[in-house]
Amino acid sequence: MQRVFSGIQPTGVPQLGNYLGAIRNWVKLQNDHDCVFCLVDMHALTIFRDPQQLRTDSLAQAACLIASGIDPSRHVLYNQSAVSAHARLGWIFNCVVRLGWLNRMTQFKEKAGKDREQHSAGLFVYPALMAADIHAFHATRVPVGDDQKQHLEIANDIGAKFNHDYGVDFFPVIEPLIPPAAARVMSLRDGTKKMSKSDPSAQSRIELTDTADEIALKIRKAKSDADALPSEAEGLETRPEARNLVTIYAAMAERPVDDVLSEFGGQGFGPFKSALAELLVETLAPVARETRRLLEDRPHLEAILRSGAERAGAIADPIVSEAERLVGYLR
Ligand code: TYM
Repeated sequence: MQRVFSGIQPTGVPQLGNYLGAIRNWVKLQNDHDCVFCLVDMHALTIFRDPQQLRTDSLAQAACLIASGIDPSRHVLYNQSAVSAHARLGWIFNCVVRLGWLNRMTQFKEKAGKDREQHSAGLFVYPALMAADIHAFHATRVPVGDDQKQHLEIANDIGAKFNHDYGVDFFPVIEPLIPPAAARVMSLRDGTKKMSKSDPSAQSRIELTDTADEIALKIRKAKSDADALPSEAEGLETRPEARNLVTIYAAMAERPVDDVLSEFGGQGFGPFKSALAELLVETLAPVARETRRLLEDRPHLEAILRSGAERAGAIADPIVSEAERLVGYLR
């Protein structure tokens, strides 16, 4: 069975983009893969976080993943910092990756903006740690949203350079699993910007713990335009907000965009938005309820993560120890 690895930053509760781009596929892959899911708290540290907030967010994130259908008894769910293999292989990969490759990473450029000198070195070498996350498990399939594509390319480049430099065939090729629909869910306030946990406006995203009323309000207020919905997908090309809302609807309903437009084309946004809110509430309200229930028993959640970390360590430690032997560390 192929091994799946994926991660999410514990920086607030997951939003709809995380759900459609990643989590929903993680849940499905559990049926026929051996899966490792990681709360990447070491990655979260690359931009300063309040320590208490990081702890709270990590538990909320774990609860939300379990409530969405991740099964920590059959698969592995843990937080990254609890397994030393990440840091150990991350360092080796810092020494394999080239500065030129890191300089080309668009996500670093976006996050650092003009203020590059003021950002942590961790943010710059983020892709090497991400490569280590995956390669420490010899994972071959990585389900992510579209924004992580470049990170997976560099992870393959790093694995290949390690294999070449040390004359081995040790790290396998990673295959990105990017969903065909809703691989990039956009902000509800601006259809040209990615929906994100870190957007200062909570109105820009649906969070998995939103109540039915909050979801309905956010969808009602979501930016749209003055025209009726088109009856074919082509008509959405120059209408980013309309395209985003229709894409979300189609992904949630698991229906083709054209099919959705054959139902709503020619109508204004009013009825469509009501139907979209209803669809979202139907799927997400039970997730929110279950997340709240799980969060009432923090010791139980902590025990789940501890057990996950033990199992993750048992897989990754021998692989990373072998990488350490290959580079020539004395033991
Ligand atoms: P993060 O925490 O930003 O996002 C977690 C997952 O959600 C996807 N995603 C989206 N998909 C569609 N539309 C959106 N608006 C949207 N926003 C987020 C992301 O593509 C991702 O799959 N670097 C990673 C975490 C990571 C990782 C890894 C992932 C660290 N190590 C190893 C895979 C394998 C990140 O910051 O994800």
